[in-house]
Amino acid sequence: MARIGIDLSRRIGIVDRRIFGNFVEHLGRCIYGGIFDEGSPLSDAAGFRRDVLDAVRPLRIPILRWPGGNFVSGYHWLDGVGPADDRLRRLELAWHAEESNRFGTNEFVRYCQALGAEPYICVNMGTGSMDEAQAWVEYCNGTGNTHWANLRRKHGYPEPHHVRYWGLGNEMYGGWQIGSLSAEDYVKKARAFALVMKRTDPTIELIGCGHNGWSDWDVTVLEGLAPIVDYHSIHLYTGQRDHYTTVFQSHQAERAVRICAGLIERVRHAQRIEHPIAIAFDEWNVWYRTRSQQDRVGGIEERYNLSDALAIATYLNGFIRHCRAVRIANLAQLVNAIAPIFTRPDGLFLQTIYHPLRLYAEHTRDVALDVLVDSPTRELAPVQEEGGSGRVHHVADLGPFALLDASATCDRAGAGLTLAVVNRDRERRHRVTIDLGEAEATGDVLVSEVNGADVDAVNSFETPCAVDVREGKLAVRGRRFEHELPAHSISVLRVPLV
Ligand code: AHR
Repeated sequence: MARIGIDLSRRIGIVDRRIFGNFVEHLGRCIYGGIFDEGSPLSDAAGFRRDVLDAVRPLRIPILRWPGGNFVSGYHWLDGVGPADDRLRRLELAWHAEESNRFGTNEFVRYCQALGAEPYICVNMGTGSMDEAQAWVEYCNGTGNTHWANLRRKHGYPEPHHVRYWGLGNEMYGGWQIGSLSAEDYVKKARAFALVMKRTDPTIELIGCGHNGWSDWDVTVLEGLAPIVDYHSIHLYTGQRDHYTTVFQSHQAERAVRICAGLIERVRHAQRIEHPIAIAFDEWNVWYRTRSQQDRVGGIEERYNLSDALAIATYLNGFIRHCRAVRIANLAQLVNAIAPIFTRPDGLFLQTIYHPLRLYAEHTRDVALDVLVDSPTRELAPVQEEGGSGRVHHVADLGPFALLDASATCDRAGAGLTLAVVNRDRERRHRVTIDLGEAEATGDVLVSEVNGADVDAVNSFETPCAVDVREGKLAVRGRRFEHELPAHSISVLRVPLV
């Protein structure tokens, strides 16, 4: 029988709630027709879709990244402020679209307020200038009697927006990015941007533009920006048609974090940097189906199956395990574009990946524990990359992989425990002994289980609950208990302790 061993004294660190962050880009129907739909009977006076807000709130998003993504590298923020009817309609070159600019900085900040999320703005380091980035910080956060702060006041916002997180460009290494740069040129430019942004508001925190966490780009950028950044970003998209490749590829995020954390430690030591530098995993998801040019123009509306939901839970377990290094993570993206929520003009449904995101955000507690998982394993045959992404995510060398993947968190006083277990086995259920060490369970364990008929199950308007959450209770007393984990399922157990 499989065994999960938990020892409340084996604490890894504090889980930063910001790992449940998210991202909205001007891309397809993520913003227009997604979170924002002016004139729709489903929208409020601000144009925010109420049904979408209701679906987003349970995700408890603490930090929301905007406006891109690739979009930002051609975006001039000034186009998106002031009276909406006067705003310029622009050709949008990242996703071959048209941008009405009716959703801009103030609408974004209001959306964050509606969610109780902190805004995280990524600046344009493609076609954008240093002056523009400086003015954006002043417009948002300025308190003096100066032009950009006054323009914000004139636009109806007397109080500063207090935008604390600022990203220094998006994927500036990539040939697809407008204005992409060599690592050396990026470092020079980012230092110049950072200087004027920080002088405008010294309290802001900067996110340097990393790559996959371990490339030569990451090394050069960390060495060049370590004195001025608080975070280094990583982006990762995984998944393939094969179930096991999809679920095990999520462990690539952990490799990225391990290597990147090592690079950060090296540079901090070598340069005697005193301030912490954390990882902002500010784009992550399963994304492999909608990668053609046509799909991109179509808004990359990936449809997720149950395998993908198991992959998402595995990513989250990894972020919890690496909570000391990963302080921010932003799922890409929130609505319609590679997203957990899918809309049409008259409603929405929740994709499979919504369920683990919601359950983890709701039930994860403050302290991550080092869990022992003793389960059957499986190797992964090295497979050819599919989906035309051109990115190689070989993970076979990380195997053999335990079929059960778990994370455990407890509250600071040790009075309650949350155990999240993903059974990635496509065919078999696994009975597991859960050993609580010195701790004792005292009452009903709340079990929330995500599952569907098979790993290919997909939610849709016609079958919105093909993959859903079932809740149950388990009466438990003592230091150990048994539980059955159905094939291809995610189980989140809330255990009260004495
Ligand atoms: O999230 C979709 C896109 O993926 C983003 O715009 C870009 O940053 C990444 O390549």
